[in-house]
Amino acid sequence: MARNKVTVIGAGNVGATTAQRIAEAGLADVVLVDIVDGLPQGKGLDLAEAAPVVGHDAAVVGTNDYADTAGSDIIVVTSGIPRKPGMSRDDLIATNAGIVGNVVKAAAAVSPDAVLIVVTNPLDVMCHVAKDASGFPRERVLGMAGVLDSARFRTFIARELGVSVEDVHAFVLGGHGDTMVPLSRYSTVAGVPITELLPADRVKALEERTANGGAEIVALLKTGSAFYAPAASTFEMVDAILRDRKRVLPCATFLQGEFGVDGLFVGVPVVLGRKGLERVFEIELTSEERAAFDKSVDAVRELVAALPA
Ligand code: NAI
Ligand code: 2OP
Repeated sequence: MARNKVTVIGAGNVGATTAQRIAEAGLADVVLVDIVDGLPQGKGLDLAEAAPVVGHDAAVVGTNDYADTAGSDIIVVTSGIPRKPGMSRDDLIATNAGIVGNVVKAAAAVSPDAVLIVVTNPLDVMCHVAKDASGFPRERVLGMAGVLDSARFRTFIARELGVSVEDVHAFVLGGHGDTMVPLSRYSTVAGVPITELLPADRVKALEERTANGGAEIVALLKTGSAFYAPAASTFEMVDAILRDRKRVLPCATFLQGEFGVDGLFVGVPVVLGRKGLERVFEIELTSEERAAFDKSVDAVRELVAALPA
């Protein structure tokens, strides 16, 4: 049986770390692509040389040529510029829209059946760019953000309560920006909502830290943004798709009436399987949660409208 093939575009921090996770899990052969000559080749060779020590048979190659990516099952898009201190994700819009449009066109042309996972920021907007550039149906264009935002929320909840992160589940909905909506009522420790385990002011503080989670790392690193947790989150989506796991994960998804939204990428829980998006997993929202979700949807809509024509 032929092994799965995953193309990761952008051999920077998120891309290279994602490639490492996929290869070292033996999940798929990986093609790492970048515009910079030598960078993907060097990182690809370095990752391949780790294989005998780590003990896997996945092939990893780096290239500047999209012909090498042909026939990929999944294309992960991380190419673009990351945030620097003082910049919002939205400041990246014009530069990254050009980059994402071009790389997706080139990659989709030689892998017409692939599932696209977009990581480049501003995330929800770049999903629109990727969908337009590829012409792929919504089932095969997904954005990674909700898994990361939920992972941050889970980390903060686990630390606050002194419990294992494994026993904490959390949902974060909406756009990947300051208006994201951590859903505390659906965030649980061993099935018990955190709203029953923590006072309201602590719940609010954890929600705020989650919404600010990307900026917290940018402020510490000073020269770029987070990449270990983003790569782990991207890997979780790749794994769910390639192994047809039917995982329920929050992903940026092109909504067509679900959650009362039409024609916009927004983060919502979905079922992920071999074909990509299999089903939007709709959940009930209280009027307060609905208002926060709508505000987040409006923020995404404004940014999409600001895309260069
Ligand atoms: P990075 O700067 O380390 O890597 C980006 C790479 O893209 C560089 O190697 C660069 O040469 C490459 N690149 C630029 N233009 C290209 C083109 N036309 N073709 C191919 N490659 C090209 O940045 P990092 O930290 O890996 O972040 C990548 C993107 O992911 C950023 O936009 C960042 O904001 C975003 N991000 C999104 C997250 C999310 O939750 N959705 C989480 C973390 C990062
Ligand atoms: C993050 O949330 C920068 O979007 C990236 O870390």
